[in-house]
Amino acid sequence: MHKILTLNQISVKGLERLPRDHYEIASEFTHPEAILLRSHKLQPEDIPESVLGIARAGAGVNNIPVAACTERGIPVFNTPGANANAVKELIIAALCLGSRGILQGVQYVDTLKDMTDKAEMNTLLEKEKKNYKGNELAGKTLGVVGLGAIGSMVADAALELGMTVKGYDPALSVESAWRLSSNVERVENLNSLFSKCDYITLHLPVLDATRGLINRELLASCKKDLRLLNFARAEIVDTAAVISALNDGDLGQYIADFPEPGLIGVPNTILTPHIGASTDEAEDNCAVMAADQIKDFIENGNIKNS
Ligand code: MLT
Repeated sequence: MHKILTLNQISVKGLERLPRDHYEIASEFTHPEAILLRSHKLQPEDIPESVLGIARAGAGVNNIPVAACTERGIPVFNTPGANANAVKELIIAALCLGSRGILQGVQYVDTLKDMTDKAEMNTLLEKEKKNYKGNELAGKTLGVVGLGAIGSMVADAALELGMTVKGYDPALSVESAWRLSSNVERVENLNSLFSKCDYITLHLPVLDATRGLINRELLASCKKDLRLLNFARAEIVDTAAVISALNDGDLGQYIADFPEPGLIGVPNTILTPHIGASTDEAEDNCAVMAADQIKDFIENGNIKNS
């Protein structure tokens, strides 16, 4: 029997890939052979000696001590692309939320809940709606920073919406480059991208080279009404720089999936609670891919996405 330790709730569809006649799955074990997790923050000292592999049902592996695992010869698997569609859809929603008076308009309509006279309500709405006028995405320029699985899908969706798309990725893989539409103009320099775009969306992992990459200097070079979206990782943006750029009028809007102390309530921000990959479908896809990798590793010694 192979013992698999789960440190988060893993979708049933994923667990079904590990047949019970060969696999024992539990959230506590003394000698697990592998760990299956989502966002649990794993410390090196919490990894039992018996562990041979760790799989994350998700794209980022910044909750796993990868260097310590490598030192111990433990492969760490992730599931690139498995939740890309969920993140892409949220980003398209965020582009629309940022550009139209949807949130404010819904809040206003809620204030009318006790009105009974429809004609009176219509008169109020007619007057009020000018406050919720927005802008269209078609014809605007979107910059995509990081053209991997998610970035390239966002680029395609934005092209469909009639946007001009520019992309920046110094580490573009051959596979992603091949997938990328020829209508995405590659820009060689981040400053140049920031100075040309109406919207920028970030799709980078947290690495030494990307931590705090979006800094005050870069934000000084952007269009004053730039709407910046971060659905990748909080750490790649210097939050203090964003707050100061918003306050100084150097940045138009910050839309992020990472609420942080000091950022919540700052004008021209829209913050969601890290729900980019929170769909039933994405959780199933990630769990299936992670479980398959663990199985293939345990049964055949194969190492994929490590
Ligand atoms: C990912 O890394 O796949 C996403 O950020 C979602 C998550 O953290 O679970």
